[in-house]
Amino acid sequence: MKIVYTDNNATTKVADEVINEMLPYLGQLYGNPSSMHTFGGQVDKKVTQARQRVADLINADPEEIVFTSCGTESDNSAIYSAINAFPDKKHIITSNVEHPAINNLYKELEKTKGYEVTFVPVDKKGLLDLDLLYNSMSQNTAIISLMWANNETGVLFPIEDIAKKANEKGILFHTDAVQATAKVPIDVKKTGVDMLSLSGHKIHAPKGIGVLYVKKGFKFSPFLIGGHQEGGRRGGTENTVSIIGLGKACEMAKENLPIMNSTVKELRDYLQNQLLEKIPGSSVNGDLEQRLPNTLSIGFDAVEGESILLLLDRQGICASSGSACTSGSLDPSHVLMAMEVPFKSAHGSIRFSLSHYNTKEEMDHIIATLVPTIQKLRDMSPFWKDGKMI
Ligand SMILES: Cc1ncc(COP(=O)(O)O)c(C=O)c1O
Repeated sequence: MKIVYTDNNATTKVADEVINEMLPYLGQLYGNPSSMHTFGGQVDKKVTQARQRVADLINADPEEIVFTSCGTESDNSAIYSAINAFPDKKHIITSNVEHPAINNLYKELEKTKGYEVTFVPVDKKGLLDLDLLYNSMSQNTAIISLMWANNETGVLFPIEDIAKKANEKGILFHTDAVQATAKVPIDVKKTGVDMLSLSGHKIHAPKGIGVLYVKKGFKFSPFLIGGHQEGGRRGGTENTVSIIGLGKACEMAKENLPIMNSTVKELRDYLQNQLLEKIPGSSVNGDLEQRLPNTLSIGFDAVEGESILLLLDRQGICASSGSACTSGSLDPSHVLMAMEVPFKSAHGSIRFSLSHYNTKEEMDHIIATLVPTIQKLRDMSPFWKDGKMI
């Protein structure tokens, strides 16, 4: 059966070009980039090129790029470094729709280290309460950390405006750009963020490689203490093969950005509009404008998201009920709950997240499968009668 893969916010296919770039370094070119000999030096050169390619994607300087093992490590490193830099400041600001890589760390810091965390709420469209955010900034705030784009709904936060306010108040600002990278333009210099996380496996590089951008001048303390690698900011021999792959993926992402904002967006809009038209009692979760071009979170009244996914899976369609980390639980996601999406439609919400590998034929296959699937599930649902939710 042909697989229709529309779960790109969970992970992406490693691009063939990325694999080709990596292969020599997985095989014969296995040297350590820190070695004195020429054999290791060849790898060091390629790592340097990869660092430049990553920097070019987000308009950073190569020295500001720290390779990590994943987005989660980047997020954790940023936050621990901030609290180490400002040990007397015991207040942190974030939102209530962050990924667990941020959310759960903050809960832990509240519980075990006495931090006061402001979880800024979002409205029904998933947009941040900016007044509350700005009013909660204080002399005691060690760090503000907000996601650039939400993994479930794709809703974008106004990172440039927030970074500006944080800079004015002298508060360190970190953004989790794991979902935004390669989907919207990112310019760290223009935006003025102090730290930014991204992850390889969301942008057609392999799993197990991430990046933390650290603005020049910030006294960064390593999360992994060890050797002198990454300019002393992350100990441990570099994951050279994946770093090289990530470099290639970043170069390709820069070239593909216009496609993301034209072809991919058009496919997403086509899927969205067809589903809204053909399935009564369906609605999009999240703001329609301030949103990633590839993401569609859509709720169907009176059915179970998990059941929809299982039936789609039988037709080779890969989608998600939200964050891969929370799927498997029967509760609606914390993001949809924070947006106060009514329980009966939050429960029937699924996420499609596209890439430039998707086609119109695939969208038609999803539509042709989903319309009768929802009908079938509603025929069995105690919450659906006479064409509407009860
Ligand atoms: C917004 C966001 N932040 C962080 C992460 C964690 O990234 P990684 O899987 O590389 O640890 C994810 C992964 O889904 C994400 O969507």
